[in-house]
Amino acid sequence: MFRVGKMAGLSSYEKRVVMKKKLREYPVAERPAALGLEAADISALHTGLTLEAADHMIENVIGTYALPMGVAQNFVMNGRAIEAIPMVVEEASIVAACSFAAKLARNAGGFTAGSSAPIMIGQIQVLDVPDVDLARSRVAAATQDLLNWLNAENASTRSRHAHAVDIELRTLPAAIAAHWLIVHVLYDCGDAMGANLVNTACEALAPLIESLTGGRVHLRILSNLSDHRTVWARCTIHVSDLVAEGAAARIVEAGLFAEFDPYRAATHNKGVMNGVDAVAVATGQDWRAIEAGAHAWCARSGRYTSLTTWRVNPVGDLTGFLEMPLAVGIVGGATRVHPAAQTALRMLGVTRAHELAEIMACVGLAQNFAAVRALALEGIQAGHMALHARQIVVAAGAHGAQVETIAARLIAEKNVRMERARELVEQGNKE
Ligand code: MEV
Repeated sequence: MFRVGKMAGLSSYEKRVVMKKKLREYPVAERPAALGLEAADISALHTGLTLEAADHMIENVIGTYALPMGVAQNFVMNGRAIEAIPMVVEEASIVAACSFAAKLARNAGGFTAGSSAPIMIGQIQVLDVPDVDLARSRVAAATQDLLNWLNAENASTRSRHAHAVDIELRTLPAAIAAHWLIVHVLYDCGDAMGANLVNTACEALAPLIESLTGGRVHLRILSNLSDHRTVWARCTIHVSDLVAEGAAARIVEAGLFAEFDPYRAATHNKGVMNGVDAVAVATGQDWRAIEAGAHAWCARSGRYTSLTTWRVNPVGDLTGFLEMPLAVGIVGGATRVHPAAQTALRMLGVTRAHELAEIMACVGLAQNFAAVRALALEGIQAGHMALHARQIVVAAGAHGAQVETIAARLIAEKNVRMERARELVEQGNKE
C-alpha cells in the first residue's frame, strides 16, 4: 500500500541557511557555510574519508578516491522546500539540469512523492523437493511459526528495528525447475537497507525449510528486485514554462519512444539514474543494488521499458510520473562510517529512510525531464558543449578567468578540441 510521504518541519540545518546571493556566486570554499553547514560538516566535506576509515571498509586499501559533490536546488516535495540536495557525480551538467527542472516543477507546486512500506525480499532456493505441492502447503501452514521464530526466538534475527512480515512461495518453469521451490522471506527493514539482516535470516531459516520441504537448500540471499519496496514521484510542468511551440507534445513523443523501445529505454533510464545514483553516492547507499533493482523492475512485463511516463493533461500542461524499487537506508552500511555521507543526510534533513527514497525519486524524475526536454527541443549537445569546453580548457592547463574566456572562444569557433585549447592557453600565457 502506498502512502504520500510526510517529512517533519525544517531541520536545524535548514534553519541556518542564509544565502544573500545565488550559491554559485560564492567562491567554492565559501558555499558550504553559505548553505548553513557547521564547521564539522564542512571539514567532513573537505576531508572526506580518512585513510584509517577507508582501511576498515574494504581490503588492500591504497588510498581514497574523490569526486565532486554539488547540490541541486529549487526542490519542493510534498509542500516542503528542500534547500540543497547533495549529488556526487563526475558528469558535467547533471546538477545544473536537475536544479533547472526542479525550478520548473516548483512553478506548478513542486513534486509529490510517496512510498510503500520498506519491505525487502530474501530468497531461499530449494532443490530436489520430492513433492512440490506438499512442500508448499507445509511451508504455508508453518508461516506464522517461522515468522515468530525469526522475530522472537532466534538471536541472530531478532531486531527492534526490522521484522519478518511474511513468507511467499514461488515455482519456476517446470522444464528446469520441476522439483524446485523458491521461498521468499519478506522483511520490513525500517530505516536500514536491510541486506545483512535479510541474508542472515535466509541462512538461519535454511535448515527449517529443508525439514519442512524434504528438499536441499542451495542459495540464500536477498533479491535486489525489491518490488515490495517502491517509491513514486509525480510533477507537473506548466506549458507556459516550456516556451517552444508544441514542446509538451514533443516531450511526450520522446517519452513514448522509451516506453516502447528498449534501446531508447536504456538511455532514457540512464538519465533517470544520473540523478538517483548521484544522491545515492552522496548519502552512502549501495548504488549497484539500486541500479540492479531499477532495471529488473523495468523488465518485469517481459519487455524492458522506461522508468517514467510523460503525458499532457487536460489543460495542456506536461505531467511526469516515476515509480521504481528503491532500497535505501539511513542507518548502517557506509552511512555509518563515511563522514561526508552523514553530512549529506543531515543536509537533506531526513529522519526516515523512506524520506530519502522519496527525495531520490523526485531527483530522478527531474533529471529525466531535463534530459528529455533538451533532447526533444534543442538536442543535448548545445548544453553539454559549454561544460565540455570548460573541462577541456582546464585539462589544457587554463586557470582562473582564462577558463571561461577560452571555453567561450572554443564554442564560438565550433572547435571544442584539446589541441586548440592548448594553443589558446599558450597564447594567453605569453600575453
Ligand atoms: C546522459 O548522461 C543522459 C542522457 O543520454 C539521457 C537521455 O538520453 O534521456 C541525456
